[in-house]
Formats: sequence, structure tokens, C-alpha cells
Amino acid sequence: MSQRVSLTQYLVEQQREHGRINAQLRLLIEVVARACKRIAIQVNKGALGDILGTAGSENVQGEVQKKLDVIANEVLIEANEWGGHLAAMASEEMDTIHLVPNRYPQGEYLLLFDPLDGSSNIDVNVSIGTIFSVLRKPDQHHGVAEKDFLQPGSAQAAAGYCVYGPQTTLVLTVGDGVAMFTLDREQGAWVLTADQVRIPEETKEFAINMSNMRHWAPPVRRYIDECLAGKEGPRGKDFNMRWVASMVADVHRILSRGGVFLYPWDRREPDKPGKLRLMYEANPMAFLVEQAGGAATNGRERILALAPTKLHERVSVVLGSRKEVERVTGYHLETEPAAAVKPAA
Ligand code: AHG
Ligand code: MN
Ligand code: MN
Repeated sequence: MSQRVSLTQYLVEQQREHGRINAQLRLLIEVVARACKRIAIQVNKGALGDILGTAGSENVQGEVQKKLDVIANEVLIEANEWGGHLAAMASEEMDTIHLVPNRYPQGEYLLLFDPLDGSSNIDVNVSIGTIFSVLRKPDQHHGVAEKDFLQPGSAQAAAGYCVYGPQTTLVLTVGDGVAMFTLDREQGAWVLTADQVRIPEETKEFAINMSNMRHWAPPVRRYIDECLAGKEGPRGKDFNMRWVASMVADVHRILSRGGVFLYPWDRREPDKPGKLRLMYEANPMAFLVEQAGGAATNGRERILALAPTKLHERVSVVLGSRKEVERVTGYHLETEPAAAVKPAA
């Protein structure tokens, strides 16, 4: 049997040989991976555990929280509080930042997460996930404030997600390409199953929620119309469509076989720049996608270059195979009046 490389070994090599990470960041990633394992156990219980249905509360964005949103958030907080690797955390499910309690040592990193991505799929047994992003605490003063989190995605020290699907897979970047680790349930271990993942530059597969078509801006409409026109249209080839409604699952497919994912601004809520969250969803996914040779924009600008103005900021997202993202971005820059793509509010 060929030599199996564990997550720990991968991280030790990133620390020792490549000098990419330090001991605190290594511990941080190990702790997040352990928390994902605990979330995976809860997910797998399904109707046998008390994890399905709504929690009877709303998050700061006015979305109804599912029990698993709350459980996953608690698991991540509890796991990460005491190790000495973090200064503070921020989550899609919490109004404000969560400081590491005084009784624990304070570390040099900030952790952001979408504890449970794809909440509408929990109760119907479709793939869901956890997304995370790691930033450095800006300076060495003791306190941490919300503004310390407002760094561009290009400043991320690490990012990743765990997809709870037919397999449980952890996907990670520390800025040295993208690696995938599959959970070996018998051993309870993360095993490296793909390294230096590359997204093909071109694709014949797009992912968008087509039910919003009538609300889209013209450049998005044009791009999808051209895909739908198939062989006879300007693209000269037939396209396929997928939409899981879990960003984690859609991005995982794109990292695995290519494709383009769009959750654009639309006229349903014209004052919001988009549905997805910059800090918990767009930035970590953009980092992964770029590290795999793909691209990620908000229709006009590189997502990783955006300067966030608030923690729960939303953003328009186009990501995946590089040439397709460039095409969609080009259509926006060519035709769209500046006001049609909402700047970050
Ligand atoms: P979350 O469950 O964290 O709120 O995220 C759901 C997101 C994302 O995962 C997915 O791509 C999108 O919402 C689906 O939205 P629609 O239901 O509007 O298609
Ligand atoms: Mn999400
Ligand atoms: Mn979520």
C-alpha cells in the first residue's frame, strides 16, 4: 500500500520544509479540522440525533437559524477558544466578534467562519459544509476590535472548507496550492487525497440559481443566454448546469472538475451587493480558487482585492475556471453602467 500522508504530516512539512506556517497556525488548522470532524459526526446522525429543523432564532442577517447552524457554531467556538492560537473569532451566526476569554492565552490569529453552509440542504440530506478563513491580528497591542478583521482577502494566512457529503473532505490552502484530505472514519484521520489541485481554465458547466433570471443585470443575462444557446450559439458548444445551493458543494465540484459559479447581484434586493458574505464565504473560496489556478471577481474586481467595510458585508460572486470568470467580468466592464453593480455597502 502506498504511503498515506496525514493532515498533521502535511502541516508539519508546510512548517518545516516550506516555512509557510508557524506552530500556532499549524495548531489552528488542526483544531479547525478536529471541530469539522465533530460537526461531521453530528451531521451523520440526521434524524437519529436532535440536529434537524430550526433552532427558533434568527441570525444578525435576519435568516432563520437551523439547529445545526447553532451546533456547528458552538463546536467551532469551544474547540478554538483555549489553545492559545487565536485572539478572536467572527462567525456568520454571531452578531459581533467573539474574543478569546481572558483566562486563556491570546494568540496571533483571527478566525472567521461560516459554521454551516447550505443550511437549506440539512433536512433533505444533501451536501453541506463549513467554510473558514484565517487572518493575522494586525498589530501586537492586546485588544482586538471588529476593525482588525476588516482586511482584504489577499491577507488571508489560510482558508478552507469541509464538505459533509458522501465523503467528508477537508480542502485547505496555506498559500502553497490547494490540498484535499478525506476523512478515514475507521482511523478517525484526515488523509491527503489530492495535492496541488488545478481548475481547468475552460469549462462547459455553469452553476447559478436560474430561478432569479428575471432579476439579473444584463451582463449576467448575456453570459447565461450564450451558454444556453449551446452549439448553435456564440460559444459553439453545449453547456451543462448544476446548482446544489450549498456553495461548499458547488465550489468542491469546480475544484474537482472545473466550472463557473455565479451568485450575482440582482434586483430582488437592489441595495445589497449580493447574497453571499465576503468575509465568511467569498474570501476563503476566492483564495482557494486562485490557489488552484482559477479566478474570482465580484463582476468587476478581484474579490481578494476588495477592502471590507463591515464584518457581515455581502458581495456579488463569480468564481471558477479562469477564462469563464474573465469572460463574465469582461461583459460587466464592457456594458454595465457603474451603478448596476452595487459597491460594498
Ligand atoms: P448559508 O446556508 O450559509 O446561509 O449559505 C447558503 C448560500 C450558499 O451556500 C448557496 O450557494 C446559496 O446560499 C444558495 O442560495 P439560494 O437558495 O438563493 O439558491
Ligand atoms: Mn454559507
Ligand atoms: Mn451558514
